[in-house]
Amino acid sequence: MEKKDKCTAILLAAGKGTRMGSGVPKQFMNILDKPVLYYSLKCFQDSELIDDVIIVTAKDMISYCKKNIVSHFDFTKVKEVTPGGAERYDSVYEGLKLCEDADYVYIHDGARPFITEEMLLRGYKEVKAVGACVAGVPSKDTIKLTDHEGLVKETPDRNAVWIIQTPQIFRYSTIRHAYDKLQSQKKDGITDDAMVLEKMEGHPVRVFMGDYRNIKITTAEDLDAAEIFAGKTKKM
Ligand code: CTP
Ligand code: MG
Repeated sequence: MEKKDKCTAILLAAGKGTRMGSGVPKQFMNILDKPVLYYSLKCFQDSELIDDVIIVTAKDMISYCKKNIVSHFDFTKVKEVTPGGAERYDSVYEGLKLCEDADYVYIHDGARPFITEEMLLRGYKEVKAVGACVAGVPSKDTIKLTDHEGLVKETPDRNAVWIIQTPQIFRYSTIRHAYDKLQSQKKDGITDDAMVLEKMEGHPVRVFMGDYRNIKITTAEDLDAAEIFAGKTKKM
């Protein structure tokens, strides 16, 4: 594959994992015998597309992360391990400030272990074409929107409903501009990077096919599924 653009991955690992309720933040818990964060790092390390990686984590986890993950598994593409902020968008901004030389950025949740090279490639094609794209899978379930009392207001057409994942991939200048603008705005309810573009820029964002295994580890039962998925890939 011919590739001349510089692609940086920003790997988010500064969350507290409140919904998991474990002592150790979920990105550092083990799936089989390796930390959650190991799996996506391994994919970036082995990828033809990714040139370097910035890990964003809590200040008091930086040395642990450098020693027990980056050095221990010899992840040579990691160029920085940097402190994050209170909210996900704060952590993303910290990462963005450290990769001004990138043409494209892959923003990825460290809590999603099961990305694949194929997925990174699909995203690369889309970001080259559109400048902004996010991984997602068509919803298998019917989705209903409700009011505050739990009464159904609307049922969107299932064919148009996607469950959104990461990586979310952007032309660097586009996402940086949107995040710069966001700093002076109200940020309520922003849960992903595409929303920053939707809110700030009105820039088109395309959804590309992620993977049904690309789950986010959020609550305890996700770890059960993750062990099965990790076991399967090990055998392949
Ligand atoms: N994240 C981050 N900085 C924050 C909040 C979240 O880097 N201030 C990261 C998490 O580490 C995770 C990803 O963003 O990899 C998605 O967030 P989420 O699943 O919500 O993780 P947590 O915020 O840790 O979990 P919870 O919301 O249950 O507290
Ligand atoms: Mg969170």
